[in-house]
This record gives sequence, C-alpha cells and structure tokens, in this order.
Amino acid sequence: MAAYKFVDHSFDVVVVGAGGSGLRAALGCAQAGLRTACVTKVFPTRSHTVAAQGGISASLGNMSPDDWRWHMYDTVKGSDWLGDQDAIEYLTRNAPAAVYELEHWGVPFSRTPEGKIYQRAFGGMTKNYGEGPIQRTCAAADRTGHAMLHTMYGQSLNYAVEFFIEYFALDLIMDEGTCRGVTAWKLDDGTLHRFSAQQVILATGGYGRAYFSATSAHTCTGDGNAMVLRAGLPLQDMEFVQFHPTGIYGAGCLITEGARGEGGYLTNSEGERFMERYAPSVKDLAPRDMVSRAMTIEIREGRGVGPKKDHIHLHLDHLDPKILHERLPGISETAKIFAGVDVTKEPIPVLPTVHYNMGGIQTNFNCEVVTRLGDDPDSVVPGLMAVGEAACVSVHGANRLGSNSLIDLVVFGRAAGQRCADTLKPGARLPEMKDALTDGHLARFDRFRNASGPTPTSHLRLEMQQAMQEDAAVFRTGETLKSGVARLEKVWAAKADIGVSDRGMVWNSDLMETLEFDNLIGQAIVTAAGALNRTESRGAHAREDFADRDDKDWMKHTLAWLDDQTGKVKFEYRPVHSYTLSNDIAYIPPKARVY
Ligand code: FUM
Repeated sequence: MAAYKFVDHSFDVVVVGAGGSGLRAALGCAQAGLRTACVTKVFPTRSHTVAAQGGISASLGNMSPDDWRWHMYDTVKGSDWLGDQDAIEYLTRNAPAAVYELEHWGVPFSRTPEGKIYQRAFGGMTKNYGEGPIQRTCAAADRTGHAMLHTMYGQSLNYAVEFFIEYFALDLIMDEGTCRGVTAWKLDDGTLHRFSAQQVILATGGYGRAYFSATSAHTCTGDGNAMVLRAGLPLQDMEFVQFHPTGIYGAGCLITEGARGEGGYLTNSEGERFMERYAPSVKDLAPRDMVSRAMTIEIREGRGVGPKKDHIHLHLDHLDPKILHERLPGISETAKIFAGVDVTKEPIPVLPTVHYNMGGIQTNFNCEVVTRLGDDPDSVVPGLMAVGEAACVSVHGANRLGSNSLIDLVVFGRAAGQRCADTLKPGARLPEMKDALTDGHLARFDRFRNASGPTPTSHLRLEMQQAMQEDAAVFRTGETLKSGVARLEKVWAAKADIGVSDRGMVWNSDLMETLEFDNLIGQAIVTAAGALNRTESRGAHAREDFADRDDKDWMKHTLAWLDDQTGKVKFEYRPVHSYTLSNDIAYIPPKARVY
C-alpha cells in the first residue's frame, strides 16, 4: 500500500510484550549474545504482571519440608487432568532455580525470621500428595509482581535488550508457514515498523478484557492470540477461563488469594464459613474454580450478603493488624479505596471476577508454537514461540492454581531464552523482506483507520463484554452459550458498521481501541464456541447440563481456528500428554478431584 511506508529493523529475536515472561525471555536471549528487541505497547513496568499480588510458587521448603513432585501432583490435580504432564514436570522441577535466580537479581522477597524467602499458603497447594495445605508461595508482601517486574526490567537493560516502547504490534509476518517477524505501529509518532527476526516470541498476555468485569488491566486484549488466529493457526483450550473468587464487589479489583493464605475466610449472609461444606479438608484454600462455584451457589440459593444478597464477605478483621500491615498492605489500601472498608474492622465485599485465561497459543515446553501437520499434532511452527498467559503449554489445563502463573512466566521465559540460545546463530542472515507479506497488515490497519460507519467501537465492545459476562460465566449451559455465540456473531457482523472518528496516526486511541476490540472479539467467539462445544464439566468450565467430567470423550485439548472473513470457528483436538519427562515421577492418573 503506497500510502504507508515501513521503517525496517532486523534482529535475531523479537519479543512482543514486556511483562514477566517477555522480560525473562528477552533477557535470556540477550544473555546468549542474540540481538534482541522487545516491542511493547506499554512501558515495561506498566505491563500487567505489575498487578500480580500474592506470590510465586516453588517447592523451596522454607516453611516446612516440600518436594517438586508434590507441587507437580497439585498442579496436575488442579488442572483437572487437562494439563500436559511433561510440561508440568518441567515447570515444577525448574521452579526453585527460577525463584533463586530472581532472588539473586534483587527481588525484595519478604523474609522469615531466619532470613529465608517467606512462603504463604495458596489454594490447592498441598503437602505429601494432597494431605493438607502447605506454604509454597514465595511472596514480596502482596506486591510480588511489582517487585519481579521492576527487577527484571533493570536486569534486561543491563544485558542490552533494545526496547521499542509504546509500539502496538499489528500482525505476524508469515511466509509459507514460517514466521519471519512482526509489524507494529509506533503510537507516539504514528510511524509503522517491520521487525524481521529469526524468532518471534509472543508474550502478549491474556484477554481478560473480553469480559465486562475482570481483574486484568484494560491493556489485556490478547493481541498475540489474535495475531495467531489471523495467521491461520489455532488457539488451544480457550473455553477455560478462570474466575478469581475475590474481586472487590462492584469494582472488580483483585484481593489476593494470599489474604486467605494468611488466614482470611469467606462467609455468607448467615455468617457461615461455607467453604467447610464444599472442601472439608482445605476449606477456603480450595482451588479457585471450586471457591468461585461455591460462592455462586451460595448467592443463587439466597445466602449472599448485602441489600441485594449478591455478594460474599471476606474476613481479615480477626487477623493481627501487624500481619496485615506487613504482609497485605496493598490489598488493605485497595479495600479502603474501592470498597470503603477498613480491613482491620470490617469484611470486604467480594465476588468472583474474570482473572486468567488458561487457553492460548499452543506450545511445547520449549515454548515453540506447535500445530498439527499431517499425523503430527505437535509439529513446530518455525520462527514462532509464545510464553506467559498468551501461551497454552499446557501446564494449567482446565484450571490454574494461584501463584502458578508467576512461576510459569519465569520458568518458560527462561526456557524460551535457552531454546533460542541453543537453536539460533547470532547475526545469521535473514531472508529479504517481501512487501507482499505485509500488505494484508496495512490493508486491515487502513480499513479500520478510515472506517466511517455509524457504530462507535465502544458500543460493540460493551455488547461483547456483556455477552461474555452473562453467557460464558462461572456456570454455563448449552442455552446460555448458544445465546452468547449468537450475540457475539452479531457483534462480529457489526464490525462492518464501525466508525472511527480520528483519522490521525499519532496517539490515535480511537483507532488503537478499535484494533484491540477486533483482537478481542475473535477470542471471545472462540471462547464461547469452545465452551458450547465441550459437553462436560472440567476445572473452570462448569456446564450445568453436563455436570460430570468425561474422561472418555473429553480428555483432550480443544484446538480452535477462526475464519477471519466469516467469524466461524472450526475445531480439532490434540491428545493430552499422558507421560512425564523423566523417570523421577510416574504419570499421575486421573481420579476424582476432592479437597
Ligand atoms: O490472588 C492472587 O494473588 C493472584 C495470584 C495468581 O493469580 O497467581
């Protein structure tokens, strides 16, 4: 397209996104002597990892004996047996080293009296294969993500990662099945950029903003996932969306699970600690999917609190104010600001709120994007990797355990860097970039920039978010999901009527929000359609019309392709990896998920 010109760049590796996984991957690549760019739409320390509160899991055994095999067992059980056990072994056995590395880089972890890293209890983390709760989650008070992100950004500057800040990634440059780079729009001067690389690593986070109420930042629009769909590749297990039990009622802001880890508990309108009925052994420290369902049932059965009986109380008022001040200062402040509550005296009003996407870009544990080619369901897509919430490795399966996300970011960020170091040659010559590979990117950009229809993007975004919130909620049925898919298809069709009022190239937030909305709607559709398609209940996917887990027909990953013209979804499946990486632990066979 003659109207636009690209500024061209060449690197060995281009990382898209500068949250925990993006920074860790970029840092590893730069350490290996690879010329590494990090392209990010927000300033690195504003990436959503900064909002992570409660901590990062690793079997350090600082509070009581622990073992990575126990951590692996908990993660497999937490995933409701949809997680790939080779990848889960990789995660849990490499977790302690990844945490010590962070410590050595300077992450200011909270400490035990002897000076070890402090660890707190978190949902679903147990000792000795499910015997009872264990303190495994390493914490920097309740600002762990903030501490990690700032430390890793400092380290990545030390290793000469080249940052391209406030560049909005547009699309993957695909050449006959190989990824050759990525295009981006520089928001502050309106220029367009083409990054060629031997390897692109997508670290673009989740798409929580497809929902109306989410703990995710407004920037969490799953831009990498959407680029993958437009590149004709599938996304995996998108029907599994995690609701965090304790979003502040009305505001949606996160109150860390660490609050329950420190002894907090939930009550209903009768003042009952109802989790004792749902998870007699671990109670309030059950995995999130179970706690969210229990809260929803309490509310539905008329035992919610407040004038409308539509939420639940989280109590910290029995805890020593000194502990609250030391270990939970952030949420004490958030509760005051967003709920007007003094946590030392009153309970916090809370409600399950969208928090995390288990689904995403299908990868192996080396972080290489894979897809089915012929008979091989795990065939590597050359030149493309994904890490962090954008990726579906899959270590979280149908339900992620709290604090397994921060560890996923650094273990797999590190793995991506190591894989690049092992497979790429610094400074290797790149094929000449052909305009034909990026013309489609410009056409899409130009179409939205000049869109002159009657419908503002914000209207369609709201319709999408409401459809997701109401029809793809904690509990789903065929009926609600059909309604959700139909509503989303209507929104998809209405994209043809979008109007963007600003035609400029510099800080055009109207256009950027439109491109983000376009990214979200595709993911919303594959999520709702995937949920309708999966006729069982597993982990966070709770179908009231198919209440049981069905290992015979559904012990498999969903792969979803989106037709970019019609908005229609096509499904295939991939077997769950029912084997481990080494002889150090045997495959953990499925059983009932009782806590
Ligand atoms: O509750 C929390 O602090 C969230 C942690 C997580 O999602 O891992």
